[in-house]
Amino acid sequence: MCGIVGYIGHRDAYPIIIKGLQRLEYRGYDSAGIVLFDGTENNLAKTKGKVEDLKHKAEISISTKGKLGLGHTRWATHGVPNDVNSHPHYSNSGDLVIIHNGIIENYESIKAALIKRGYEFHSDTDTEVLVNLIEEVKKQEGVKLGKAVQIALNQVVGAYAIAVFDRSKPDEIVVARLGSPLAIGIGEDEFFIASDASPFIEFTNNAVYLEDEEMAIVRLGKEIKLRKIKDDAIVYPNILELQLNLEEIEKGGYDHFMLKEIYEQPRAIKDTYRGRLLADQGIIRMAGIDQNLEKFLNANRIIIVACGTSWHAGLVAEYIFEDLARIPVEVEYASEFRYRNPVITENDILIAISQSGETADTLAAIKMAKERGAFVFGVCNVVGSSIARETDAGAYTHAGPEIGVASTKAFTTQITVLTLIALKLAKEKGTIEESKYHEYLVELEGIPAKVERTLKTNPLIEEIAEVYKDSSNCLYLGRGYNFPVALEGALKLKEISYIHAEGYPAAEMKHGPIALIDEEMPVVVIATRKGHYEKVVSNVQEIKSRSGKIIAVVTEGDQQVTDLADHVVEVPETSETLTPLLTTIPLQLLSYHIALMRGCNVDQPRNLAKSVTVE
Ligand code: M6R
Repeated sequence: MCGIVGYIGHRDAYPIIIKGLQRLEYRGYDSAGIVLFDGTENNLAKTKGKVEDLKHKAEISISTKGKLGLGHTRWATHGVPNDVNSHPHYSNSGDLVIIHNGIIENYESIKAALIKRGYEFHSDTDTEVLVNLIEEVKKQEGVKLGKAVQIALNQVVGAYAIAVFDRSKPDEIVVARLGSPLAIGIGEDEFFIASDASPFIEFTNNAVYLEDEEMAIVRLGKEIKLRKIKDDAIVYPNILELQLNLEEIEKGGYDHFMLKEIYEQPRAIKDTYRGRLLADQGIIRMAGIDQNLEKFLNANRIIIVACGTSWHAGLVAEYIFEDLARIPVEVEYASEFRYRNPVITENDILIAISQSGETADTLAAIKMAKERGAFVFGVCNVVGSSIARETDAGAYTHAGPEIGVASTKAFTTQITVLTLIALKLAKEKGTIEESKYHEYLVELEGIPAKVERTLKTNPLIEEIAEVYKDSSNCLYLGRGYNFPVALEGALKLKEISYIHAEGYPAAEMKHGPIALIDEEMPVVVIATRKGHYEKVVSNVQEIKSRSGKIIAVVTEGDQQVTDLADHVVEVPETSETLTPLLTTIPLQLLSYHIALMRGCNVDQPRNLAKSVTVE
């Protein structure tokens, strides 16, 4: 849940590290720090707050010279966010300096042992313990830094991506990973270290992603050396050529990443089905499914695990898979699933959905299901992410980098992938009529244009936001395919505007939430024509008769709900199955505008981080 950046080479490290940290701020933004080796000494600046605050502090308080440095942007786990707890951390001698993303679970016992040996600690962090453990090992064993890191890591329990260097040997950085991502960019006699490739993409396209339990020594003038942390086995680096480009990770004229990503959805959905959906030939081609078709056709059931927005996409998939392919589906929060004792058989398929591909609970659920014999399929956005690597097969969403903490295009592209899978399986199983199948393919192909049309409602949504921006609560209702959309709308509002919001299946309103309705309560109702329309109309009437304020998302040309609602936002007509791809858009825009009007930080909401790599 933190972002790490390192540089060693012939350029000035400071601008590379600061810019890199800004790109990684989505991973954590409660404090930040940087260390630069100026040829003689380390210069360190750390501060509570954002990377921008760090920049101010560094430029007035330290020398920003140096061709070697490390930087960190933090989402606190151990110790409150303050200057002292910010990374980098020095060892007691001041020789070693470390940055760390993850948690060292047994840090207390290690700390106690080190205190007995005379070590002093200045912060509350597990990271300061780790760097001192490395120092102690180095001293006791008389070994070099790389070996000391390896021995120390074999004593710790937890998760980490670390980078550490020794000021007395400033030609190398030692890095290691277990459970937190770490990429090494390889340039001409220079190396970049980062949590993902975004900090170095303008300098090099060549990168190595460390696997779990691997470490590397990056030394100037030498080839990169990889080893297994456990047994020292040599690993030959798999140098990848990155496809990422700079434009994808910048705001491109939008005020916020979230808005950019909302507007990218027509393109993103197209990229998701490009090469997979061949509507004119009536074919869906997906390597991960094609190669494992028998498994899918013979599956007893599909278990979907995910967190947050990805879990909502899983709920939509439950409706689609059961409806079209007639395969029983269970959707589980990964964090619950991994800690109970679920019945999993070899004929179960587990589908893990994750934008980042790094969510700790989802990763742990995958590992458990694999141990119990299930076949695991991943739906991820980030190429080469831990979940993408851990699964038996999978399909990328190809949404492009999602940087806003509030997930938007990840959701619609996940639904697109899952719809393709469901349609393919339905066709293979013969659970869908041929003509219906073809209609779906054509309809899905036309969705990006309909999303584009839906985005045109933005000015109207801005006006609605103005009316409700000061609300304290908001209720979201939907039925069938649009029940998960109601949940997603509520999540979007609460996470970026801090307004309390609840999503409910519309009919459940009578079983409790209706008591909340009064003239102060905005209720967002998704009431598209094909989704149990008449029933939703009754729900809208029930809200109306209790003076609730109704914001309805309806199908173009709607009459009944339009007559009852205070505000209506129209989306184009589509098949009921595909409506979530359209109805989600106004809800994303509504939360965006409300958050903005309330002065909230849309891209970096408080207490959150983009990828939750801790439990
Ligand atoms: O990267 P993942 O899809 O695994 O992330 C799961 C959740 O943390 C994520 O969807 C979160 O709920 C978003 N901030 C919601 O907008």
